[in-house]
Formats: sequence, structure tokens, C-alpha cells
Amino acid sequence: MHPDLEQVLFTEDQLMAEIRALGARLSADYAGRNPLFVCVLKGAVMFMTDLVKHVTVPLEMDFIAISSYGASSKSSGVVRILKDLDRPVEGRDIVIVEDIVDTGLTLAYLKESLQHRRAQSVRVVTLFDKPEGRKVDIQPDYACFQVPNAFIVGYGLDYAERYRNLPFVGILKPSVYIG
Ligand code: IMP
Repeated sequence: MHPDLEQVLFTEDQLMAEIRALGARLSADYAGRNPLFVCVLKGAVMFMTDLVKHVTVPLEMDFIAISSYGASSKSSGVVRILKDLDRPVEGRDIVIVEDIVDTGLTLAYLKESLQHRRAQSVRVVTLFDKPEGRKVDIQPDYACFQVPNAFIVGYGLDYAERYRNLPFVGILKPSVYIG
């Protein structure tokens, strides 16, 4: 437990068990293929590195960094690519690896961008899904955990760049961000 957390939602063991199971599912679903796993920086870094260890098909990894603009801290859907992929995606089976899907605006942009570059297929894997936050009709193809409409941190997820290094995930106390 961390003093800034209201509640721990998932322990390290719970995270690892789900990630291992997801790796097995992806290994079966991508049998005979050579997918390109695209990690969305920075939040999905821990998830990506643990997930690929449990995928048995040959795969490649690439990284993309995006930033969304807006008057508030909430995603506006206006997205800018800060760091693009190193390699072309044309003809590739893409697996987007996200930390959390909230409004879905970031994901909608990213998915469209990769389809536009003529990827053969684009699927989305997310560690957390916050379905109550959705503003656009987009669903991840694979989600490890559904979470309530609260601000969560840890295991890659941050608030103002903090808490990413926690090995577990919890709900941040509102007093931390409302002063
Ligand atoms: P959206 O789906 O476009 O609203 O944005 C998803 C992005 O917002 C994620 O990739 C996270 O970076 C961030 N985000 C959304 N909810 C949370 C949360 O509860 N904790 C930390 N980051 C979050």
C-alpha cells in the first residue's frame, strides 16, 4: 500500500496471472503469424514487457508516443504523435498494447492511423478497460481487467508522471489531485 492510495485494486500476483493468461490466448490466436506489438508509451511499458514474455509466436516490438491536447486533463481526442513507429506497418498484423481505455478517443485515433497505413489487421489489447468513461463506440479486442470510473495509478499508470513504478495498481486519493 502507498499513502496516496485510497485502495489497492490489483496486486502484483493478480496482474501477472491475468497477463500470463492473455499471453497464452494471443499465442493461440496468432499461431502461424508474426505480429507487430505496438506499445503506447509510456503507460503500457510494464504491461508490454511482461506480456510479450508469455507470447510464444515470433513477434516484433515497436513503440509509439502520443499526446492528447485539451483544456482539461481529460483526453480531448485531438492527438499528436510525439514518437512514431520505427518501421512501416503495411501488410502487418498489428497488436496495439494500451494501458487503459477510458473515453476511447486516443485508441480510435491510433487504430485509424494504423489502418490508414494499410496494416493487414489491427487489434487492441488493454490491461484496463474503463467502460463507463467511453465517448466513442470502440472496444478493445482483449482486456485483462474492467475498472470503475476512478483515477488509478501504478504498474505504468501515472498521475503527473508519478506512481508508474508501483508494482501494484490502486485508486489514487482525490485529495492528491484536488489539493
Ligand atoms: P482515452 O481512452 O482517450 O480517454 O485515454 C486513455 C489514456 O488516458 C490512457 O492511455 C492513459 O494514459 C490515460 N488515462 C485514462 N484513465 C486513466 C487512469 O485512471 N489513470 C491513469 N491514466 C489514465
